[in-house]
Amino acid sequence: MTAIAPIAIIGTGIAGLSAAQTLHAAGYELQLFDKSRGSGGRMSSKRSDAGALDLGAQYFTARDRRFVEAVQHWQARGWVAEWQPSLYHYRDGQLSASPDEQLRWVGIPRMSAITRALLGALPVHFSCRITEVFRGEQHWHLQDADGGSHGPFSHVVIATPAPQASALLASAPKLAAAAAGVPMEPTWAAALAFDSPLQTKVEGCFVHDSPLDWLARNRSKPGRETTLDTWVLHASSSWSKQHLDLPKEEVVEQLLGAFAEMIGCTLPAPTFSLAHRWLYARPGAAHQWGALADADLGLYACGDWCLSGRVEGAWLSGQEAAHKLIGHLQ
Ligand code: FAD
Ligand code: NAI
Repeated sequence: MTAIAPIAIIGTGIAGLSAAQTLHAAGYELQLFDKSRGSGGRMSSKRSDAGALDLGAQYFTARDRRFVEAVQHWQARGWVAEWQPSLYHYRDGQLSASPDEQLRWVGIPRMSAITRALLGALPVHFSCRITEVFRGEQHWHLQDADGGSHGPFSHVVIATPAPQASALLASAPKLAAAAAGVPMEPTWAAALAFDSPLQTKVEGCFVHDSPLDWLARNRSKPGRETTLDTWVLHASSSWSKQHLDLPKEEVVEQLLGAFAEMIGCTLPAPTFSLAHRWLYARPGAAHQWGALADADLGLYACGDWCLSGRVEGAWLSGQEAAHKLIGHLQ
């Protein structure tokens, strides 16, 4: 091991923490940074008066052998459980049952439990937005939005969505250009809670031809404890783009209207509602990059946008970044 200074990881979503786990297990000293108050990124959950709500990733599937093994390990530790929703799809104005055999996983008791567990006791700076990554004579340094500087670091792993990564990759123009070429699409999310359970069997629904593209009965996931009937609605990318700057109350109103139209039962007024805008929700296209690297410089970038825009893709990308870094040092 030739690293003489710690490695910096920017972003504590699943990609950054996947890389962190592998680098930590290989004996490297790490420091992590995130602009948010906690870990998880798009797998974070919002604490609310209606209990914890998964506003971003709803569930994940595992298809790659390496990720299947990781998920089995998480399951054995009690971090994840299988979610078996009563699934529907909605198309051409018709709501139909749509059961399948797919295994779907969720964090318990909330999605953010996974990244929280992966972070463990690793040293992390939250509420710390990194604005610049620059190289001194031998080492890397980070500048944050409050004027603080951090370093020296032997290597930097940037694990943020592509537009944010591109800005931080200025020292490696080729990598910055690759990241800049990945557009990311927004998603408006809304959460609703009802005092008495809605008279429907729907627990998850893939929606077409509507402002919505997904809805889930948050409470149907294992380990969620709330007396309210809680729901999460996701707008489609195109609706979200068209309504990017709509005030939150109007977003709730419009998505509630779409929900009422498709759910096929009477909707009482929700006792609780909120809206959240994910500006960089999903990459516009999938890539086969694994992770971006300038190994001689010691700069790496990973995230769902380097593979598929899913939890599995993000985790695999973090693995790829860590293995490339370790491989270069050996
Ligand atoms: P992120 O989770 O975005 O993590 C990046 C982190 O970097 C964030 O914590 C952010 O705060 C931090 N950061 C950014 N810039 C800076 C900076 N300058 N300084 C410091 N920190 C910074 N996937 C599925 O598999 N199944 C689903 O059902 C599913 N549904 C989804 C629904 C929605 C609404 C959204 C938004 C996503 C969904 N996804 C789903 C996608 C999945 O959530 C992502 O693919 C995955 O979580 C991305 O992980 P990541 O680590 O690459 O990025
Ligand atoms: P998956 O295999 O459950 O779903 C993949 C796609 O197959 C679904 O989008 C849906 O169109 C279709 N599908 C699957 N099962 C179905 C069923 N029983 N009935 C009807 N259609 C069905 O999960 P996978 O491959 O892990 O995908 C993750 C999910 O996360 C996708 O639904 C994707 O749209 C969603 N996602 C949402 C984002 C957002 O911003 N809203 C961002 C990234 C992912």
